[in-house]
Amino acid sequence: MNLKIAVLPGDGIGPEISAQGVDVMSAVCEKFGHDVEYSYALCGAEAIDKTGDPFPDETYRTCLWADAVLFSAVGDPRFDNDPTAKVRPEQGLLAMRKKLGLFANIRPVETFSCLLHMSPLRKDLIEGADFVCIRELTGGMYFGEKHEGDDRAYDTNAYTRAEIERILRVGYAYALRRRKHLTVVDKANVLASSRLWRKVAKEMASQYPDVTTDFMYVDNAAMRMIQDPRFFDVMVTENTFGDILTDEGSVITGSMGLLPSASTGEKTPVFEPIHGSWPQAKGQNIANPLAQILSVAMLLEHFGLIEEGKAVRDAVNASLDAGVRTPEIQVPGGPTYGTREVGAWITDYIRKH
Ligand code: IPM
Ligand code: MG
Repeated sequence: MNLKIAVLPGDGIGPEISAQGVDVMSAVCEKFGHDVEYSYALCGAEAIDKTGDPFPDETYRTCLWADAVLFSAVGDPRFDNDPTAKVRPEQGLLAMRKKLGLFANIRPVETFSCLLHMSPLRKDLIEGADFVCIRELTGGMYFGEKHEGDDRAYDTNAYTRAEIERILRVGYAYALRRRKHLTVVDKANVLASSRLWRKVAKEMASQYPDVTTDFMYVDNAAMRMIQDPRFFDVMVTENTFGDILTDEGSVITGSMGLLPSASTGEKTPVFEPIHGSWPQAKGQNIANPLAQILSVAMLLEHFGLIEEGKAVRDAVNASLDAGVRTPEIQVPGGPTYGTREVGAWITDYIRKH
């Protein structure tokens, strides 16, 4: 296979983890006889500094050229506490999602047995938890009509039937491949938009008789996720609820630095860690590269390269078992490894196994 990859390292720790993701990608492609070609592009704060635009046209064109985008992180504290800033790095991410039509954000929540003790939740509650949140990514409040006045401001949570149907179809496709349980998370007791979600989902449920479809209010879902995370298999929800719930999901497993995600839709799919740019750690070689490396596994699997994806996952598991870990997940009393060292260990493992 010939793969063209747009690499968008972005800000903060982005470039450091990006480099490890690219090395892993190259090692897998070499091992399995695939050709891979990279093109680097600017986004986020770096792009604002250099071009004034957090997602410049040239970056968009590079994304269109590519079969997949390997994205790292955007965000810079220079913009965070300045409500008057006209452009922000995060707008680059939103522009990318919108322009590439990436309406489905797939965020798996998996536990790693050797890291269960790091979870703020009791081990017996989370052991075996394994679900995937499918977050709608190009609609809702993020992109609805907005007004920002001095005395009144609003964001509109608008959804069309077509937008709801297409994200639910993605959810059902996942449910059919998994434990055949789909939970639609909404706020239908209060929001009109949620009532449309529920109506459309009820109509669609009959087309998927093998899947158990149930409905849960988002406040209840937030609670259930920490009381009984094993309840969930596939969760489908709107943009804002998905943003909030996936942060919650990422900490229950005790390993925020380990969770990858995929955003797919109309144009080039994007693969990225769910964590942010962690500006304080920039340049220190301490960031965990595993979420980025596991994003490479998701990328490969997206193109049907299942064995290749497995080679990456096996190498990641081996590194955890061998205690080759960045500081935040180090074996108590054991050595710690840097971003580059963990990446190099994994790349080496892939080459040798
Ligand atoms: C995410 C992030 C983004 C979002 C921010 C950076 C705009 O939190 O990908 O979850 O809110 O979607
Ligand atoms: Mg978020």
